[in-house]
Amino acid sequence: MLPQEVIRAKRDGQMLEPGHIAGFVQGLCNGTISEGQAAAFAMAIFFNGMSRNEAVALTLAMRDSGTVLDWSETAGGRPVVDKHSTGGIGDNVSLVLAPMLAACGAFVPMISGRGLGHTGGTLDKLDSIPGYTSQPGLGQFRKAASAAGCAIIGQTADLAPADKQLYAIRDVTATVESVPLITASILSKKLAAGLGSLVLDVKVGSGAFMATTEDARALASSLVSVANGAGLATSAILTDMDEPLAPVAGNSVEVLNAIGFLTGAERCARLRDVTMALGCELLCLSGLAVTAHDALQALEQSLKTGAAVECFARMTGALGGPADLVEKPGSYLEVAPLEVAVYPERAGYVSSIDGRQIGLAVIELGGGRKRPEDKIDHCVGLTRLAGRCEQVDRDHPLAIVHARDRTSADQAVERIRQAYTIAAEPPERRTAILQHLKADDI
Ligand code: URA
Repeated sequence: MLPQEVIRAKRDGQMLEPGHIAGFVQGLCNGTISEGQAAAFAMAIFFNGMSRNEAVALTLAMRDSGTVLDWSETAGGRPVVDKHSTGGIGDNVSLVLAPMLAACGAFVPMISGRGLGHTGGTLDKLDSIPGYTSQPGLGQFRKAASAAGCAIIGQTADLAPADKQLYAIRDVTATVESVPLITASILSKKLAAGLGSLVLDVKVGSGAFMATTEDARALASSLVSVANGAGLATSAILTDMDEPLAPVAGNSVEVLNAIGFLTGAERCARLRDVTMALGCELLCLSGLAVTAHDALQALEQSLKTGAAVECFARMTGALGGPADLVEKPGSYLEVAPLEVAVYPERAGYVSSIDGRQIGLAVIELGGGRKRPEDKIDHCVGLTRLAGRCEQVDRDHPLAIVHARDRTSADQAVERIRQAYTIAAEPPERRTAILQHLKADDI
C-alpha cells in the first residue's frame, strides 16, 4: 500500500493491517517515507487512536527496526526482567530495585532514560558517579550484567531506531500525548531489550505526566494489554506522584539516597513501599516467587543480608565506577558548595505539593536540561523535602537547596515556597500504591 493510502485509511478511521503498519515503519527507517508523511501518520493516530491489534503491530514493527537482544547465553537460566517508570520526582526506584532483583536471582538488563520534561532520569543520576559508563558497548553491558546480575545503561542507537526517529518527529508535531504512540514507543524498546517479564510503574499526580487517575489507568491498560499481546508478560502498578517519592530530588543526592537505602542507613517509607510492590510483582511474574508474601520476604532478605548492595557495588564497579563507592559515597559524589534551608512563611502541616514545581526547581539549579544539548550539574538538588502531612515551621524546613551559586539558590527557594501549600490541620494520609493492573484485569 502506498504510504499516502495508509495515512488516508488511518485519517478516515479505518483499521490498518499489520503488514501495512510494518511497511510504513520500514519505509521510515530506509528513507522511502518522508518526515512529513510520518508526521501526518502520527497525527492521524493521535486523532483516531489504534485498536489493540494495530498497536501490537506498530510495537513489533518498531522493535524489529533494530537489534533485538538475546540473553540466553549471558543470563545463565535466570529470568530476564525489567521495570519501567513513566517518570516522577525523587524516584530512584530503579537504582535500588535492579540490584535487589539481581540478589533474588533475576537478570536485569535495564535500559533507562535521561530526564524528560520536569522529571529526573536514572541515567543522569548514574552519570554523577565518577567513571560510570552509562553508554557502554554491548560487550561491556553483557559483562557487567553477567557479573552483577544487573546493569543500568542508556538506550543504544541500534535498539528500536524507528522509535528514535518517530519520537523526534512527534516531539515537534504535537503528537507525543497519544496513548497508542506512547505505548508502542515504550514497549518497542523493552521488547528489543530481550525481556521475559516487565512491570510498569505508572505515576499519577502533580509530579507525573498523567495528572489524573483516569488518564494513568488508560495508559496502564494500553501498556499491559499491548505488551502481553506482543508476548511480554507485563503488569502495571499505579502509584501516587502527588509528592516526591523520596525526600530528595537531583542527581548526586538521589544516588546517595539510593545507596543509603541499600545499606540501610536511610530508608524512606514511600520509596520502600513502591520498590517492594514493583519487586513483588516482578518476582511473581517471572516465576522466581510463587506468592507475594514469598516475594516480599526474598526482597527483604536481599537488603538484610547485604546481597543487594553487593550487586549494586559490582554493577557500578563493572561499569567503571569506584570500587569502594558504597563504603565511601561521600568521597565520590560531588556536593554543591551552597546549602540553603527553605522555611515556610507560616507554621503548619503540608497539605499539598506541586511536584512539577519541585522538578522545575531542580532544572533551574542546573540539575536538569533547559535545552537538549545542556550539560547537567550533578551536585545540585534538593534534600529533606517535607512530605504531605509533615509539620513545618521555623525549625522544620520545607527543603534544603543545594546550589552552585546564590542566584540559582534564591530562584529555587522561591519555587519551593510556591510548590508547598500549608494548612493548620494535617490532611488525610494517602498510600503510595493506588492500583494493581494485571493482564487478566483488562
Ligand atoms: N517515553 C517514551 O519512551 N516514549 C514516549 O512516547 C513517551 C515517554
